[in-house]
Amino acid sequence: TSNSMWGGRFAHSPDAIMEAINASIGFDRRMAAEDIAGSRAHAAMLAATGIVSDSDAAAIREGLLTVLSEIEGGEFRFSTALEDIHMNVESRLREVIGAPAGRLHTARSRNDQVATDLRLWLRDRMDASIDGMAALQRALLEQAEAGADWVMPGFTHLQTAQPVTWGHHMLAYVEMLGRDAGRMRDARARLNECPLGAAALAGTSFPIDREMTARDLGFDRPMANSLDAVSARDFALEFLAAASICAVHLSRLAEEIVIWSSAQFRFVALSDRFSTGSSIMPQKKNPDAAELLRAKIGRILGSTVALFTVMKGLPLAYSKDMQEDKEQIFDAADTLLLCLAAMEGMVRDMTANRPALEAAAAAGFSTATDLADWLVRVADLPFRDAHHVTGALVARAEAKGCDLPDLSLAEMQAEHPAITEAVFEVLGVHNSVASRTSFGGTAPAQVRTQIAAWQERLG
Ligand code: ARG
Repeated sequence: TSNSMWGGRFAHSPDAIMEAINASIGFDRRMAAEDIAGSRAHAAMLAATGIVSDSDAAAIREGLLTVLSEIEGGEFRFSTALEDIHMNVESRLREVIGAPAGRLHTARSRNDQVATDLRLWLRDRMDASIDGMAALQRALLEQAEAGADWVMPGFTHLQTAQPVTWGHHMLAYVEMLGRDAGRMRDARARLNECPLGAAALAGTSFPIDREMTARDLGFDRPMANSLDAVSARDFALEFLAAASICAVHLSRLAEEIVIWSSAQFRFVALSDRFSTGSSIMPQKKNPDAAELLRAKIGRILGSTVALFTVMKGLPLAYSKDMQEDKEQIFDAADTLLLCLAAMEGMVRDMTANRPALEAAAAAGFSTATDLADWLVRVADLPFRDAHHVTGALVARAEAKGCDLPDLSLAEMQAEHPAITEAVFEVLGVHNSVASRTSFGGTAPAQVRTQIAAWQERLG
């Protein structure tokens, strides 16, 4: 027997392999609630416009709620032969309410239906990811507040560069996540137009009301071009791109946490709740969550590349290739939400080791730039000359195997006579960070201003 949904012109049913490659029910069942919401809005509109009788539409809308509760209750029997969630729901609706079910698909195609479902599903996950980003920002802000004036080494090339504050370092990620959330909000705004009513590709001859369904489903407006409505997946590509960028940020922070929690750094201790042990080495406490976060960008980026590749050669309008969008979107959204939650937990529970941070901050000639800047001011040296004098002092210290403040005043004056006792203050790390008061700089006063601004923005 052929398919009851489209089998009119078929004499044979599909081969088992055809069914296997064709079916999406294995994954698109996740859009059941969205599919039913879309169908209920469509049915209400069909009644309001007089296309379907009020009683048929009421039966359809009621019956769809029954189907939804069966699905939510785990009693629904999904059928691979019925390909996808759309036809599984409609077929069950017919069993539940009988003949009126056949009127639901008036002025509609699975092409506009699936595009609508997917937008609804993704819109929800975008909102959840924006919330997840804000929650992580709050956790970072708590860290920043606790250590607004704790000094640590700032790195370039992972070599000691200049001292910075712990709060400043935490705030750098707060800024990144702020942009990530902005990208997600922008993508959401463009996503929020309704494809329903585009039908297969050309629109419909029935007098539908697309404004009504768009409004019912929380969209800002119906999409203006029916070909575009059924063939566009840029909303999904935009989500994937925004998710990828956010995942890169999470991965960079994860990498820092892996480094920081090592015995060589000891900048942070992870909580037991967010680490694991070794089955052979009793001393081990491993940063597995951070490592997995660092790795999961691979999935998200992979999904992004996969969907770009699916879409790039497709002629308008719908092609079945587009069925391959869902698993990528689902996996990327699941992964992003999980990563945001894991990072939030890890950051919230993490303990920064202030003494280790401060000891490391002073190592590696980290205040050499402060000394050069100071020489510019007290001896009116051109910066290049001050740089040279300071470099010579670093070479001396290195030869002696000591830090800059361990050189005697006489040794320093041998490189430049304008150097006075005040140099030892200049070489202090607290002095160094306190002096970086330029807007956006690492001075605790700046950091506190930025923390307050973010606390206000996040409410
Ligand atoms: N399962 C399909 C998908 O995910 C639904 C749309 C099918 N449309 C069609 N013309 N065969 O894209």
